[in-house]
Amino acid sequence: METLIKSGEQAIKLGADLIKAGEIVAFPTETVYGLGGNALDAACVQKIYAAKGRPADNPLIVHIAKIEDIYPLVSEFSERNKRVVEQFMPGPITLLFPKSDIVPDSVTAGLKTVGIRMPKLEIAREFIESSGVPIAAPSANASTRVSPTTAKHVYEDMKGRIPLIIDGGDSEVGIESTVLDLTGEIPTILRPGAITAEMLADVVGSVRTHKGEVISSAPAPGMKYKHYAPTCPMVVAKDMDSLIAEYDIQSQKGLNVLALIRGQAVQAMAGRKYVNLGNNDSEVCRNIYKAMRDGEKVCDYIICIDLGENGLCKSVMNRVMKASGGKVV
Ligand code: TXA
Ligand code: MG
Repeated sequence: METLIKSGEQAIKLGADLIKAGEIVAFPTETVYGLGGNALDAACVQKIYAAKGRPADNPLIVHIAKIEDIYPLVSEFSERNKRVVEQFMPGPITLLFPKSDIVPDSVTAGLKTVGIRMPKLEIAREFIESSGVPIAAPSANASTRVSPTTAKHVYEDMKGRIPLIIDGGDSEVGIESTVLDLTGEIPTILRPGAITAEMLADVVGSVRTHKGEVISSAPAPGMKYKHYAPTCPMVVAKDMDSLIAEYDIQSQKGLNVLALIRGQAVQAMAGRKYVNLGNNDSEVCRNIYKAMRDGEKVCDYIICIDLGENGLCKSVMNRVMKASGGKVV
């Protein structure tokens, strides 16, 4: 199968036509690119799992274009949850509700809850709206690979497997949405993202964060899989001194090393190879996956500086620690 990359209105129209014909299409969102299909069509959902090589026990997020599109998909909608929706949708967040019967079990991997997301990126909402159905979509990477933030990244993984990639340029946020479980008394963050615990607590009073990484009883099934990993080894350095020391040790072994650092640390690199992730937290977040994807092509060992625990960087570090298998030097 030939995989087209197209942008603009023409791409949205073609994408919507393909969805109506039961095909799957990659599309941009403000977080990362998604691999979408008709969420109400179990056969189409199977195509998504197959194209990604995704385990069947890892549920998909259902994407919508308008708030009212939530109602047919859920069996319960409280006042509190309405407040959360009104405050954060559209945006980089996925909300879990008790699912209604029209959502196929394959979408939710047999769970009684459904994750719903309304992207902020207008192209994404236009595509969903024109398709006329809710769109089930995981990130558009092959399973276990780093999530794609450009059409080119999607092409690397999905070439020959899907008919179309809608090109919407670089994803603005750069990491996947916050996943928030709204089915319990206290909302629980299952995956941290750009909507932080602090932002949520302002609206709902208290939120729990799900601690604990790779455990099989993790409530977001995806969390137990190795994720976001580049194809070469990656480690985290706790500070710039450790980063330089590790860089030199690995280089002396003959490895081609690449450092991922903040803009402020550029001078300290003194001729060593690096990617500048940016000068502030949102730039760092936007660039982290791109740096891993591009980095693995040009080096055989990546060292990423510890980005700290403040706000957005806490979510970025969640991905970086997974990519490095928790290895800190
Ligand atoms: O930003 C995003 O969320 C992107 C864009 C395309 O929207 N999508 C994305 O999907 O990251 P995916 O499939 O790569 O990650 C979804 C995560 C997985 O860890 C999955 O297990 C969890 O959300 N999830 C989805 N539905 C769930 C449910 N009903 N209960 C618990 N976890 C769920
Ligand atoms: Mg994913």
